Amino acid sequence: MKGSYPHFMLKEIYEQPDSLTQTMRGRVISHDSSPDDVSRNHRGDVHLGGLSQRIGDFRRSSRIIFVACGTSFHSCLAGRQVMEELTELPVSIELASDFLDRETPLFRSDVCVFVSQSGETADTLEALRYAKKCQALTVGVVNVVGSSIARLTDCGVHLNAGAEIGVASTKAYTSQILVLIIIALQLSADSRAKQGRRREIHDALLTLPNLVTKTLKDLDGRMKGIAERLKENTSILLFGRGFHYATCMEGALKIKELSYIHTEGIHAGELKHGPLALIDENMPVILFAGKDACSGKVQNALHQVTARGGIANMLIVGTEGDSEIEKFSDKVELVQVPKTVDCLQCVLAIIPMQLLSYHLAVARGLNVDQPRSLAKSVTVQ
Ligand code: F6R
Repeated sequence: MKGSYPHFMLKEIYEQPDSLTQTMRGRVISHDSSPDDVSRNHRGDVHLGGLSQRIGDFRRSSRIIFVACGTSFHSCLAGRQVMEELTELPVSIELASDFLDRETPLFRSDVCVFVSQSGETADTLEALRYAKKCQALTVGVVNVVGSSIARLTDCGVHLNAGAEIGVASTKAYTSQILVLIIIALQLSADSRAKQGRRREIHDALLTLPNLVTKTLKDLDGRMKGIAERLKENTSILLFGRGFHYATCMEGALKIKELSYIHTEGIHAGELKHGPLALIDENMPVILFAGKDACSGKVQNALHQVTARGGIANMLIVGTEGDSEIEKFSDKVELVQVPKTVDCLQCVLAIIPMQLLSYHLAVARGLNVDQPRSLAKSVTVQ
């Protein structure tokens, strides 16, 4: 039911403080969980029951391969860096279709993680069958309980995000990122060297739902206004890097599927390798600027775009309190999301893009919950 919301998509965007809480329930345990809590042994840590039988095999693997399509692929892009950092294993990400086309070599020592909201996506499911044939350990990260991918994988973690009805994935995306990060925390539980970083991420997870609530409250009206200004454009470029590479890719996908405006998500490090030729004072640009290890490089990208007149039509999605980016606030449209730990910043920064794509579709009079030519579950290859 949509309740008081005009569209399922808007309802699902607004459900995220709750869906993220559900994703973490019983898995990210606070420091002061009650003594009779079943999770009392994991106070201040994480616990993933669905992985416990195979966690040893997972830890002993030689590499981790994420396999997914569309938005689910972007969540893998968002989760990869922390997975690499905390497990110190090589982590690759694969579009399920390309993974199958290449007949990617797989070994028994590999772990393949299949990420899917529906659990029924044909390419992802076929890739899972292939991985099983190669005897790799298969792990599902799926929202729909009882779906094919949930049933066929050796072990897994449900998103618990609740039913997602709108064709464009929103709350499943943010829950997928959380699950991948929680898996990374679980895999690195025994690493002494990682405890400080693990605690930082764990504690930030617990405060994330409130920051999502604040982001929705602060930015919905702003994004509606920006959608009104952007709605007649035919093309928008989105740039990001580091933890925001995923944000620019997913933001571009959301805008194109909902508004039918041509968009491209581009790694900001690639600007000079071609995309700069597209930049002039008429090209709308959205730049994601985190306050993290990539800040200096993102500012370089900002200067490159500015030098080609691209600042005339620029929206920056930045972080509250980032004085370097605030210097540009009189020249560009600047929206800021609250500050959290670097690897979770992408969960907050995608929210203005979800809202923007929603308002663009409404402003252009399009079918928000069922964009043309798309289906919620892609069951044919
Ligand atoms: C975009 C979207 C799609 C799906 C993709 C995979 O908003 O929803 O790109 O993410 O079709 O679907 P699942 O996650 O069900 O495997």
